[in-house]
Amino acid sequence: MLPRRKASILASEAFSMKHSSFSNGRKNGKYSLFVIIFSVFLFITFMYNEDVKSIAEYPFSSRSKSPDMSHEEFPIVEPSKEEYHETNNFRHAQEQADEEFAEDTVKVVLPQDDDVRVVDVHEKPAKEPEPERERVVLDVPESCDLFTGDWVYDEVSYPIYKEPECEFLTEQVTCMRNGRRDDDYQKWRWQPQGCSLPRFDAQVMLERLRGKRLMFVGDSLNRNQWESMVCLVQSAVPPEKKTLTKNGSLNVFRALEYNATVEFYWAPFLVESNSDDPNMHSIQNRIIMPKSIAKHGRNWKNVDYLVFNTYIWWMNTLRMKVLRGSFEEGSTEYDDVDRPVAYRRVLDTWAKWVQRNVDPSRTMVFFMSMSPNHIKSTDWDNPEGIKCALETQPVTNLSHPLDVGTDWRLLTVAEEVMEGMKERVPVSFVKITALSESRKDAHTSVHTLRQGKLLTAEQQADPDTYADCIHWCLPGLPDTWNEFLYARIASAPWRPDRWLTAA
Ligand SMILES: *[C@@H]1O[C@H](CO)[C@@H](O)[C@H](O)[C@H]1NC(C)=O
Ligand SMILES: *[C@@H]1O[C@H](CO)[C@@H](O)[C@H](O)[C@H]1NC(C)=O
Ligand SMILES: *[C@@H]1O[C@H](CO)[C@@H](O)[C@H](O)[C@H]1NC(C)=O
Repeated sequence: MLPRRKASILASEAFSMKHSSFSNGRKNGKYSLFVIIFSVFLFITFMYNEDVKSIAEYPFSSRSKSPDMSHEEFPIVEPSKEEYHETNNFRHAQEQADEEFAEDTVKVVLPQDDDVRVVDVHEKPAKEPEPERERVVLDVPESCDLFTGDWVYDEVSYPIYKEPECEFLTEQVTCMRNGRRDDDYQKWRWQPQGCSLPRFDAQVMLERLRGKRLMFVGDSLNRNQWESMVCLVQSAVPPEKKTLTKNGSLNVFRALEYNATVEFYWAPFLVESNSDDPNMHSIQNRIIMPKSIAKHGRNWKNVDYLVFNTYIWWMNTLRMKVLRGSFEEGSTEYDDVDRPVAYRRVLDTWAKWVQRNVDPSRTMVFFMSMSPNHIKSTDWDNPEGIKCALETQPVTNLSHPLDVGTDWRLLTVAEEVMEGMKERVPVSFVKITALSESRKDAHTSVHTLRQGKLLTAEQQADPDTYADCIHWCLPGLPDTWNEFLYARIASAPWRPDRWLTAA
């Protein structure tokens, strides 16, 4: 039998429980006032909590100051870094589909005596005909393992965009504006061993996104990557032709002339959990419903490119709390389940959703592997370091294998789940973990927000307490992750436009 406990699940429930116990005890009087004050206090507490706080302030190290966490050591997981072999996940139903496509103007061919003339039927001689759209197909062999290689310092080609030139970056990631002095972290190019990773080209990407939706689904690391993708594509869109809107769990960037979107949907466990509120989700006592995905999944239907992740929210406890029953029914009992076991249950549910709801001839599906943290500087032999705070260069010349505490068991689980999906809906596994583990230099550290506010000078001077070694500066490492997506998206054969196939 698994241990079974009572949990207070939501802030509102915690409050209502307290509330009812008070009102049962005393009919009226001074306790009502106390309850109101207490509830206002609770509300404010939860309003100002952020995921950054919940995971960055009380991370996994034994330095943790949270009483809740003090007995929970971050697990030492034996690194099981098998050699990667990249699966070729891009088999398309219509491989021959890259020839004929609708042109922008309708043309009528009139036979002449001995030649053929092309006449434009649109009677707007004053207007230049729209240039034919370029349907670029990148040459990135599916057989190439993009994720084994080296970081090469390249200040000529990188960064791909400049921090001040992307108006959509949030203060969480604008490290230079927030006081960071060194900028080498922006200038590393990933060089795969057997082939090249093409540099991101916003025009080419936008042509692929024309009339389509690209959506990132997951936690704040996927949001980090979404912000990067927005910046990467927005440079090719003139001002006034782009918007960014936030509505609940969904953030949407629109490139208006392309009728294209780059979206982010908040679902840190993919399945339902008590951390699904996009603003007030800083809950130490995380509880999931591993079989419930429909409510979130509704928002992912009919998307053309789906990019999933889930990792960091699993990492503050060794075991995951799995609800018996549902939040709607007011259930409060849960089982404590080993992390990889619960992770597999969640990904099985996710796999079923994908296989039922995704048409692989229309939609490409990606799954991002774990984004690593850099909490203990002794991991990379720097006893003088303070977390990731003083790091300006990637890890090099280590005399032992690098182990920053990544839970590699979850990568194995993800790999096995995706192996089972490949007949119905192949998913591209984007293995960023190992190559990101050497990027101790690329985190936001003290050049970021805490509880919605820029760190003060005093806080910046105390990285041991305040450094965020989970999220990443932009421009920076997540741009490379997006170059992996770009490489796969832009090297896929073009498919017929949807209205053509519908005819
Ligand atoms: C714009 O894109 C959406 C899909 O994102 C599509 O349903 C719609 O038909 C497109 N509109 C036009 C005018 O092309
Ligand atoms: C925000 O999302 C809700 C629920 O999906 C929707 O009903 C509402 O119309 C949206 N609001 C805006 C301004 O788009
Ligand atoms: C790493 O090792 C190589 C060869 O062993 C050496 O040339 C290089 O200077 C070293 N780099 C650092 C940063 O120590």
